[in-house]
Amino acid sequence: MARTQFLSKPQTLAVDKFGTASERAQRELASGLLQKPARISPKYFYDSLGSKLFEAICLLDEYYPTRVEQSLYVTHAAAIAGAAGPGRVLIDIGAGNCAKAELLFAALQPKQYVPIDISAAFLRNTVERLQAAYPAISMLPVGLDFTEGLNVPAHVNMRHRLLFYPGSSIGNFTPLQAAKFLSGVHRECGADGALLIGVDLIKDTQILEAAYNDALGITAAFNLNVLAHTNALLDSDFVISDWSHVAFFNVEQACIEMHLQARRPVLVQWPGGERKFTQGERIHTENSYKYTQRGFVELLESCGFGGIACWTDEAQQFLVCYARAV
Ligand code: AVI
Repeated sequence: MARTQFLSKPQTLAVDKFGTASERAQRELASGLLQKPARISPKYFYDSLGSKLFEAICLLDEYYPTRVEQSLYVTHAAAIAGAAGPGRVLIDIGAGNCAKAELLFAALQPKQYVPIDISAAFLRNTVERLQAAYPAISMLPVGLDFTEGLNVPAHVNMRHRLLFYPGSSIGNFTPLQAAKFLSGVHRECGADGALLIGVDLIKDTQILEAAYNDALGITAAFNLNVLAHTNALLDSDFVISDWSHVAFFNVEQACIEMHLQARRPVLVQWPGGERKFTQGERIHTENSYKYTQRGFVELLESCGFGGIACWTDEAQQFLVCYARAV
């Protein structure tokens, strides 16, 4: 029976020449809050509550990407497995609850599953359940912040890798950052590696804006929770009720922008710093870029991928691509 082994300690314990991970987070948060306009990186959405809120978003009627992407994996599992072949080392970047990879296990028959996620505690619980359900697949969960570039731990087999980046998380990078990230993914593929990636497509503004302004207010809670997480990391004194959720589609940039907007004049303080916000001033928390199929294939090609196969749904809402590292 395969054994689960946790490859790295949760990030908060990691120390390097720039200090502990929590010191780095404090510096990043403070400097983002002092910028004009202020910003908080979307990676801070994912504390344990934020990860659960994101799971809830994925169940919402309005949030079509998860539903449509999952249906693409179900419908095209055999074709995807045919392209990739069995016995791959399946490296799931930003695995979360691992639900999408699990949809492919039966057809793909990976020999090893390496889920990587910034939220190590969340991952640990998920993988315990998964390992029990799939004893033949060896599982190596990795707690890692890969937003500045992907470095798969060296002891993960370099041969026969299939990197999996579902969920349109590539859309949370600017197109320039996405190209840099995908070039790094290409390096991590090794000589016989490939990438399976899901990306959200440009569509009607109303559909896009509804997906980020759901009637139950789950996306608003997800966005606002970043302030609670910031308070925990930075020891700041954000009052959640001082802020409201804003999300809209920027047609020119082809991206959903998410912000938090001050309901009244606000002073936020933390050890060693403070920031005044006027009423209506915003903190930028996320971009979610949308692509055309052609634009995304060109992006993959510019990052060294080839032999690209694409699958999309009838309404052309979402795109899944299999691309060989060439
Ligand atoms: C993780 N990421 C692809 C989601 C998105 O749609 O950009 C995050 C999200 N933000 C609000 N809702 C979902």
